Amino acid sequence: MLDFNTIEQLDKIATPFYYYDMGLFRKTVDHVAELASEHDIKVHYAIKANVERRLLEYISAKGFGADCVSGNEVLHAHSCGFPADKIVYAGVGKSDKEIHDAMMLGIEAFNCESLQEIFVINEMAHIHGVKANVSVRINPDIDAHTHKYVTTGLYENKFGISQHEFEKLIEIIHKSEHINFIGLHFHVGSQISRVEEVFGLECRRVNEIVEYFEKKGLEIRNINLGGGLGVDYDDPDGGQIADFETWFRTISANIRRRPDQTVHVEPGRSLVAQCATLISRVVFVKSGETKNFLIMDAGMNDLIRPALYGAYHKIENLSASQRQFFPTFQAYDIVGPVCESSDVWGAGRLLPLSVRGDLMAIRSAGAYGQVMASRYNMKDLAPAVFSDAIDDAPMKKDYFTVE
Ligand code: LLP
Repeated sequence: MLDFNTIEQLDKIATPFYYYDMGLFRKTVDHVAELASEHDIKVHYAIKANVERRLLEYISAKGFGADCVSGNEVLHAHSCGFPADKIVYAGVGKSDKEIHDAMMLGIEAFNCESLQEIFVINEMAHIHGVKANVSVRINPDIDAHTHKYVTTGLYENKFGISQHEFEKLIEIIHKSEHINFIGLHFHVGSQISRVEEVFGLECRRVNEIVEYFEKKGLEIRNINLGGGLGVDYDDPDGGQIADFETWFRTISANIRRRPDQTVHVEPGRSLVAQCATLISRVVFVKSGETKNFLIMDAGMNDLIRPALYGAYHKIENLSASQRQFFPTFQAYDIVGPVCESSDVWGAGRLLPLSVRGDLMAIRSAGAYGQVMASRYNMKDLAPAVFSDAIDDAPMKKDYFTVE
């Protein structure tokens, strides 16, 4: 929850914008760094969740690696301080150019998602006279009990290599002289809330798969245990920091590893979601035939999660909280300005009586917010405003004043 003075400062800034609480961000990252070292687990931040340079520079300085899913993410991570040998690169459809650029950088590992990809990487490494580090992404066929759009580890999903290709996979790895095989990668889904159940199951399944591959003569030096820890969208203040303790403890207790094997995790959302709020303003209040609409200046172009997944984000009227201590509440359909009926922030939300110009907070917007924003309807992209550099933000203009 933002304090009185911060709200006053934010009220002077042109909306919409993403407001980053840098104190909370650093606290979250520091907490994860401590737990990771306690459990001897390496962390690669999944930069797809948020690519703001200031965040990445802090995370890389903490010694974390980067988990990337495109050539541009690899190059961006490198430019933000992640050393090449701490960058891994997953993705089902890496283009030749993307593979080439990452290979020339000498990244820690390509997480290969098909037999053909291993073949292509081996050929390219041969031509360029290098050895490419390769890890293989396995589809473990595990239900992460999360939204179907963010489930990644079932056979029906496009990710990873499935069991029926294991024999062929092993043959290809043995034959590919220009790759350096380092281990296995798994990912079961995102926003996982049943932590002990899902990660416990994943670890036990991974133990079996690692044993199988080692019996076939492949040394597994690195086990990358993907699967994203869930955050509390319902209660961003109560759940400011995700339950990293249970996550690390579950992995430590269930994964079987020798001292020469490293275990990696690759959190994205849980490191950044709660540290940003999308700040918007009520442009109009309108009473429809059956409901009241609050029309905001931020829309699905700024944060697509509600329109795309039906995702819930808590919404608060910041100005009303300054105005009245015991406000009267009313139900609103809170909507954006975009010409799509799905541009709805929340239907039937109870809010204090709201008026044109009120400053609104859309919470838990730090992950998959700015990175998924678009210029649909030719809207401008909402900029980032950092809590420790508020004065750099563009001020709002009063268009009713003649100068
Ligand atoms: N590693 C891989 C290979 C992934 O596919 C993902 C997420 C992550 C790491 C990071 O997972 P996280 O810790 O953020 O859960 N746009 C969706 C989320 C898509 C996640 C896809 N993969 C959303 O807004 O909910």
